[in-house]
Order: sequence, then C-alpha cells, then structure tokens
Amino acid sequence: MVSYTFKIENDMKRLLTWLFTVLTTVSITYSNTLPLVPYPQQVKVTEGNLSIPDNITLQGEAPASPTIDYIRKELHSLGLNANIVASSSRPFLKLQLNKRIKGSEAYHLNICKEGIRIQASTAQGLFYGFQTLKQLIDQSNKTLPCVAIKDEPAFSWRAFMLDEARHFKGKETVKKLLDEMAALKLNVFHWHLTDDQGWRIEIKKYPLLTEIGSKRDSTQTGGNSRSTTYRIEPHSGYYTQEEIADVIRYAQQRHITIVPEIEMPGHASAAIAAYQWLGTGTTPGYVQAKFGVFENVYNVVDPRVRGFFQDVLSEVIDLFPGKVIHIGGDEVRYNQWLASPQVLSFMKEHKMSDPAEVQIWFTNNISEFIASKGRRMMGWNEITGDKVHNDVPATEGKLDTQLAKNAIVHFWKGDPDLIRKAVERGHLVVNSFHSYTYLDYTYQNLPLEKSYSFRPIAESIPKKYHKQIIGLGAQMWSEWIPTEADMYKQIFPRLAAYAECGWTQQENKSWERFKKIADTRWVNENTK
Ligand code: ACM
Repeated sequence: MVSYTFKIENDMKRLLTWLFTVLTTVSITYSNTLPLVPYPQQVKVTEGNLSIPDNITLQGEAPASPTIDYIRKELHSLGLNANIVASSSRPFLKLQLNKRIKGSEAYHLNICKEGIRIQASTAQGLFYGFQTLKQLIDQSNKTLPCVAIKDEPAFSWRAFMLDEARHFKGKETVKKLLDEMAALKLNVFHWHLTDDQGWRIEIKKYPLLTEIGSKRDSTQTGGNSRSTTYRIEPHSGYYTQEEIADVIRYAQQRHITIVPEIEMPGHASAAIAAYQWLGTGTTPGYVQAKFGVFENVYNVVDPRVRGFFQDVLSEVIDLFPGKVIHIGGDEVRYNQWLASPQVLSFMKEHKMSDPAEVQIWFTNNISEFIASKGRRMMGWNEITGDKVHNDVPATEGKLDTQLAKNAIVHFWKGDPDLIRKAVERGHLVVNSFHSYTYLDYTYQNLPLEKSYSFRPIAESIPKKYHKQIIGLGAQMWSEWIPTEADMYKQIFPRLAAYAECGWTQQENKSWERFKKIADTRWVNENTK
C-alpha cells in the first residue's frame, strides 16, 4: 500500500515536472529589451508579472547585513517600506548567499509571481542584483515583469576617475558620483588628488602641502591651455583625513574601492610650491593657475625627497584600505633633471644614459615600498619607459632599467600596441585609451557612440593575454569644468556607455538598445 501510493505520487510528480518544463519552455524568451544599463549577460522573460506592495518583507543573511541595510534604505527612497523579517518562509524579497554561484560579483535575480529572489556568493553580488532590480522598479509603475537573470561582469576593473586637483568639488559631489557609480555597477573610484594646480589631501607630517599647495589665486579659462584668459578669483580646497575616511566608508557601503592617485615624479608644482626642497632648486614656487604640462619635477635622487614620498604614502596607505595605489608617472619633463648636477652625477654613477631610466629606477623604488606595505602600485603607461609621446625621444630598446613586473600599467596614450608589449612583459593593464575614454573631450571629438564602441581588449591581443587586461577606466579631467553642472554634462550619458563596456560581454552589447535607454534616462543636448 505504502509503495503503491508512493509510485502514484512519483508518477504524478514526474508528470507535473514535465508539464511545468513544457509550459515554461514555451513561454520563456530571451530578452534584449529590458530598460537596463549595463545589460545583464542572460535575461529570460517568462509570462506574468508581479505587483509591488507598499510594504515589502525583506529577508537576508547576517554576513551581508550592511548591504541589506543599504537595500532597505534604497527601497525606502523609492517609496517602498521594507520590513526585515528574520525567518519568514515567504518574504517578498529574499537575498540569499549561495556559494555555488561562481564569481565574486555574479548574481542571479528571479522575479516570479511568488516574489523576488536574489542569490550571490557575496554581499557584492547581492548588491549588484539589487541594482538591477532597482532599475526595473524605477521603470515599472509598481508592476515587475517575471524574469530570470543570470549576470556577472566581463571585467573586474570598472573605474571612474575624478580629477579634483584642477577644480576641487568636495565631499557631497563625490558622494553623489559614488551613488551614480553604484547604480552602473562601476567598482573603482580613481581619485586624482594631486597635480600642478592643487594638492587636495591632508598629509599630517607636511601641513604646507595643503596650507599652501591647495590654493591658487586665479584660474585659466577658455577651454584650451593656449588661451590667455583667466578668472581672477582664488580657488582652494582639500580633504582632511577625517573627510576622506568618511568618503571611503560611503564607497565601501556601495562596494566601490577607492584608488588614490598621488602624482610623482611630475605634475609636482603644487607640492614644490609648499616645500621648495622637493624640486631641483631651479623651480618657481607657486601653484599653477594655468593648465597644461609643466617642467617642475621632484628631485627623486635626493634621499630626503624619497623619504618624503615614503611618509606621504604611509599616511595614504593607512587611510585607504584598497589594494592599489596610483602614483601617476605621466608627462614627466626631464629638462630640470638634465640641468641638475645632482641628477647628472647620479646618472653617471648608475651608468644611466637616459633620464627615463631615472624615472623607472625611482618608480621601482616606490613600487617596492608600496609592496612592502602589502599594496600594489599602478601608474600611467609612461612608467614602462616606452615611447608614449611624440615630443620625447624614443627610448625603445635602449633602456637597461625595466619596470617591476608587479606594477599595474594604466594605458592612456601612445600606440595601442603598447598594451600588447606590457602584457607580454607580465604586467596587468587597465585600458583608458584617451581618444575613447576621456570625459573632458567634447561630444564632437568623443561622441556617445564612440564611447559605447570602446573595447578594453583589442582584437589583435593574443587570447592568452586577455586575463591580464583587467578592465577599463573613464577619466573626468577637470580643467574646464569649474561647476558640477559642467561636469555632469561631460559625464552623462557617456559614463553609462563605459559601464556597459566594462560589464556586458561584447556579444550582449547593443548600441540601439543602449541609445534608446540613454536618451530617456540621461537627457543631454550633446547626444541628440
Ligand atoms: C594623463 O592624461 N596625463 C594621464
């Protein structure tokens, strides 16, 4: 009797499973049309939809508590009241850690008539699943389509850079940008904090860096470094370490890592204005009001100057928990080194024939210091010693000094084939090729469609090196964007395009779909 009942039950179960499979197979369609940016890798839309009640029950797991708390607050900002229920069997929204889902940023999002379930192996994955859900809720009028989404990023490094040296914007603007980044699943905020026109981070051991180096008396205008017009008005601003810690916490809640950039050995005017001994002694001591590239360079062969960098980087490393520290390294002019008896005698002693070798030697010295603190150095691709600019002599093959292998190369300029060279030498590379990813460029020079077409890995790169190209960066250089409104026009919707270049696999990208969404979500007369 028992086994007979069991058999009938089993047959029934099999029949129901078969029926379910047939029905769902018939009604499932892969969709390319949901209003999502960046678009997920796999979207199946099934029949039916789900109404969102005003009061939502939400269930999560303790290891993801800060993310669950964030999600509850976000739902609240959408007008939805979410009550966390500890062990309800059928919450409306269930956030579930599931170690079987591979990939630290991957997630599954299922919306069906019974409710919503997000699964991921990490809190970061749950966070991204929620960001997708949030976009659906935003567009939904309180009724969600039934969908099954499986998603993970194409690249692990999806960065946005803000230059605050040229125009300081301040904490509230940065927090707003971090919110925008989170919504687009961007995960690295590259913070350009020092340059010729301003030093923006408090360093306790060297107070003049901000007391003097964060202030200038006027600012060039006119949109071009050849312009002769200036705004005669003081510009200043810097972050205290406390404020930076606050921004870091804000970013952590959004699963964004901050990579601080402290420029060396060039772009040094503001620091040298504060401490003249940091230069070679021939430099004028003022914070630049003009834009462009300057000859001021740190005297890196002086042990006292290298001690300065160790002190500065120690404070920076104590403050920022992220693994990577960016040291700039771009656009160094060597004239002052070549005019310095101290640098020339150093080159002679170390049998260096080219000042580019001094830069690589110094960069390796800094890289070792950063590594000794458990972190990893990154720099613009000049740090390789390759010929990046047309106006500097080719060093190709002539340098005896080689960049340390663990340096991450940030490609921005030169022949894109330099990326191949860098990965062949064993480096990790982030691709920020300027003509595709510089947000300061006009929409005439860098239209939205060109931004969207950016591919971090060029087709010419052999497959075995693809893993070393870890992603992309979009850069908001701030010479010509004094106000937040100017900045937003430059950033959006192009940043959304880069988010999709970094997250969505090439075969799942669609310019037509993206353009349609971008036109309604980020209205900008430059993209009409
Ligand atoms: C750069 O644009 N100078 C990296």
